[in-house]
Amino acid sequence: MDKMHWILFLHILMGQCCFFTCRLYEYHFIAENKSWSEAQRYCREKYTDLAKVFDMTDMSRLRNSTQNQGEAWIGLNHNTGGNRTWHWSLPGVEYIQNDSSWNLNGRQNWEPYPGNCGRKRDKLADVSCDSTMWFICYDEMKKDNKTLYLIQYPRINWTQAQAYCRYNHTDLASGLDQVDGEEMKALIKSKDSKFSAWVGLFRDSWRWSDGSDFSFRYWDMQLFNDTQSNKKCAMTLLNRSGKWSSDECDKEKPFFCYDDKMILIKENKTWEEALNYCENNYKRLVSITNPEVQGRVQETAKNADSPYVWIGLSYKCTLGLWLWVSDYVVCYEKWATEGKTEGCDMSVGVDRGGQHEWFSRRNNETYNFICSKQ
Ligand SMILES: *[C@@H]1O[C@H](CO)[C@@H](O)[C@H](O)[C@H]1NC(C)=O
Ligand SMILES: *[C@@H]1O[C@H](CO)[C@@H](O)[C@H](O)[C@H]1NC(C)=O
Ligand SMILES: *[C@@H]1O[C@H](CO)[C@@H](O)[C@H](O)[C@H]1NC(C)=O
Ligand SMILES: *[C@@H]1O[C@H](CO)[C@@H](O)[C@H](O)[C@H]1NC(C)=O
Ligand SMILES: *[C@@H]1O[C@H](CO)[C@@H](O)[C@H](O)[C@H]1NC(C)=O
Ligand SMILES: *[C@@H]1O[C@H](CO)[C@@H](O)[C@H](O)[C@H]1NC(C)=O
Ligand SMILES: *[C@@H]1O[C@H](CO)[C@@H](O)[C@H](O)[C@H]1NC(C)=O
Ligand SMILES: *[C@@H]1O[C@H](CO)[C@@H](O)[C@H](O)[C@H]1NC(C)=O
Ligand SMILES: *[C@@H]1O[C@H](CO)[C@@H](O)[C@H](O)[C@H]1NC(C)=O
Ligand SMILES: *[C@@H]1O[C@H](CO)[C@@H](O)[C@H](O)[C@H]1NC(C)=O
Ligand SMILES: *[C@@H]1O[C@H](CO)[C@@H](O)[C@H](O)[C@H]1NC(C)=O
Repeated sequence: MDKMHWILFLHILMGQCCFFTCRLYEYHFIAENKSWSEAQRYCREKYTDLAKVFDMTDMSRLRNSTQNQGEAWIGLNHNTGGNRTWHWSLPGVEYIQNDSSWNLNGRQNWEPYPGNCGRKRDKLADVSCDSTMWFICYDEMKKDNKTLYLIQYPRINWTQAQAYCRYNHTDLASGLDQVDGEEMKALIKSKDSKFSAWVGLFRDSWRWSDGSDFSFRYWDMQLFNDTQSNKKCAMTLLNRSGKWSSDECDKEKPFFCYDDKMILIKENKTWEEALNYCENNYKRLVSITNPEVQGRVQETAKNADSPYVWIGLSYKCTLGLWLWVSDYVVCYEKWATEGKTEGCDMSVGVDRGGQHEWFSRRNNETYNFICSKQ
């Protein structure tokens, strides 16, 4: 191809970027009154499970899937007897315990303990979410090569800090790469006095019905009380912008199910074999076009029995670029540091563990793989 055609060709491809719209599941509103467990049984029978929610875009899709203005169950419930587990506020960032990031004796004597929110000083400590302090937002726009912002404006509690960061930036700083990284070190060093600031760390005992780790929470703080022991199932209040509260699980309400459009095939195949298998039995190898699909692939990859899982991204030698089997160009990416090697026989395997990043693997290696059904 000459240069003109090249540019035209790339231009067409660029148009096919489905950052916001491509989501591999559907919500279904069921207008029948059922208890939470009956609703769960119904969804597992007819669809995949009770609805789970990855982020604000999901929330908007959930609301858009019904005209109903009352309350409806979602697939989140309180894990009785289970411990609270830590989550990062930014959707898709896995919480992985690393004791060297924490200083459990580093709490100041005025800081209430034990706490369910995380603050950063030189290290992390758990303090009460009611405390008020400065906070550190993360911004994916990378303006001026900067992703972290220390907000020193009136000290506020964790919930308010999260709302501020989600509105004005992306989220509270999340993940050890951000919280222990070079940029954070420089930021802390630039302040002479020792300071404490919120980062995007919280813990709770709420679990998604399908076992996934999604950290998104949308509680209506005016109505929700996490310590009310008898209200262990979560519902969305459709007449309060869909915000969540909880109720007794045997109350009967309508509910939302979700239907998964991706499936893990636990067989080891080369990339080409996987490609054919998906095309013959489903639609194609999965394409990851936004953080939400990556989030779902992460949850799916955890169940694989091979160290990587194939996805529908491979290097096209003739074009000299990475291309999805769906013909989309790469709009969203999650390459591991030094994980990207260009070569005619290279495709992408998602790591089963860690942060589930992308690695170039030779096409002739054999792994489990994920097909999409649409
Ligand atoms: C569900 O229960 C509510 C309140 O009890 C009632 O108003 C509604 O008509 C019921 N819906 C159905 C489909 O039975
Ligand atoms: C939901 O509906 C509103 C109003 O019709 C629209 O602006 C919004 O983009 C929709 N959201 C999604 C995720 O489809
Ligand atoms: C929202 O719906 C609930 C239950 O259906 C009802 O009790 C409440 O009054 C409604 N609130 C508003 C602001 O309409
Ligand atoms: C909760 O934590 C305690 C102490 O760390 C541990 O002994 C127990 O097994 C945990 N329980 C569950 C259900 O994980
Ligand atoms: C914990 O963090 C330290 C310092 O960042 C790192 O060297 C170590 O490999 C990490 N440990 C685990 C288990 O990830
Ligand atoms: C944070 O502050 C707001 C406004 O003062 C309050 O409504 C909310 O309950 C507080 N949240 C926590 C977890 O302390
Ligand atoms: C941006 O930051 C990275 C890493 O901190 C650095 O390597 C790069 O040179 C910086 N770029 C600019 C334009 O300052
Ligand atoms: C966004 O930032 C402005 C000024 O920095 C602040 O007044 C506003 O409250 C913030 N928005 C939210 C939702 O916190
Ligand atoms: C939450 O519920 C518990 C137990 O019922 C109660 O002791 C506490 O005062 C409630 N908190 C709020 C803020 O309503
Ligand atoms: C796939 O390969 C892994 C090792 O890479 C192996 O542990 C696993 O049992 C294999 N699965 C099947 C279904 O053969
Ligand atoms: C894959 O191909 C490379 C290069 O052709 C070869 O060196 C390697 O042994 C092959 N691996 C497997 C698992 O067949």
